[in-house]
Amino acid sequence: MSRIDYLVTGAAGQLGRVVMAAAKQRGRTALGVDVAEMPLDQRAAIAKVIAEAAPRFVLHCGAITNVDGCEQDALAAYRINGLATAWVAEAAATAGAGLLYVSTDFVFDGSTAGVPYPVDATPKPLSVYGASKRLGEEAVLAHRRTDFYVVRTSWVFGPGGKNFPRAILDRAKSGQPLKVVTDQIGRPTMTHDLAEALLDVVDAKPAGGIYHAANEGQCSWHQFAVDILREAGLGHIVVGTQSADELKRPAARPTWSVLDTSKLAKVRGKTMPHYVEALRRHLPLDAAAQVLQSQTGQQSQTGAPPPATDSPLRGKQY
Ligand SMILES: NC(=O)c1ccc[n+]([C@@H]2O[C@H](COP(=O)([O-])OP(=O)(O)OC[C@H]3O[C@@H](n4cnc5c(N)ncnc54)[C@H](OP(=O)(O)O)[C@@H]3O)[C@@H](O)[C@H]2O)c1
Repeated sequence: MSRIDYLVTGAAGQLGRVVMAAAKQRGRTALGVDVAEMPLDQRAAIAKVIAEAAPRFVLHCGAITNVDGCEQDALAAYRINGLATAWVAEAAATAGAGLLYVSTDFVFDGSTAGVPYPVDATPKPLSVYGASKRLGEEAVLAHRRTDFYVVRTSWVFGPGGKNFPRAILDRAKSGQPLKVVTDQIGRPTMTHDLAEALLDVVDAKPAGGIYHAANEGQCSWHQFAVDILREAGLGHIVVGTQSADELKRPAARPTWSVLDTSKLAKVRGKTMPHYVEALRRHLPLDAAAQVLQSQTGQQSQTGAPPPATDSPLRGKQY
């Protein structure tokens, strides 16, 4: 039986859609699965889908990403982001497949302020979401396989669906006042650049373990909003400032989560593009996706259906 190249979980999500498109562009065979095809709360379904697909690599992008929602339903967060990742790892190992698990800068607490987090920094999550993703990391790393990877990324944005640049532009265009957090610093990362980096990792097959993938540059959410408006030709709109404490969100987020991406850059022989350059590519693509969405009610990129919203915990949040 010939093996497919990749099985992509979370294939209807912001990143998974783009990973699917990038894989196809590279001429690879990829099967995308999401809640309908491989519900992550079901160990037997995970084992069956991975055994039957027999992929060379599982690219595990599926997760509960509603950071504040995770505080309200910790059990679901730990089950889907933590335990299910253990089940995915177990099934991948049984099928003789490699595994790449996408994780997050929210495994860190921000205490290294000013110094980018190297891959071997000690995780200390502040939120249930961060802790649940760390649980997933531990489950993957416990296999000690040379073809099992944890790739942490941060502040992901990309065309189609809900994304931070669009949220800022929509608010600005509505004439409502804008206030954005100044005391969280990180690295915005575009799905397209991240997808290429993930596929490069599985192609290059470096030593197993942890890698950090993020666009170059660093900023606060406030600075990112200023960048978005400037690049969209709305630089005259003033972005008010706010502290994370004032915003009073249920989940604590690190004030500093800049990832040191040098290990990945060595593998690829290059760094990822600067986030402002990525933003310049994102804006026209997202505008086109928005037009397509309004015309067809569909997501762009892969024609994948819009995400289901049957659970208050599911669905994107930053
Ligand atoms: N977004 C960020 O800023 C960010 C930052 C760092 C790391 N990451 C990581 O990057 C990866 C991709 O994130 P993303 O931004 O693409 O998130 P996303 O758009 O929310 O995609 C995640 C996908 O997983 C699906 N999913 C949720 N619960 C599931 C379940 N029980 N069974 C099967 N599938 C389920 C979601 O479906 P529904 O939408 O229908 O719930 C969605 O399609 C995740 O591992 C995330 O932790 C994201």
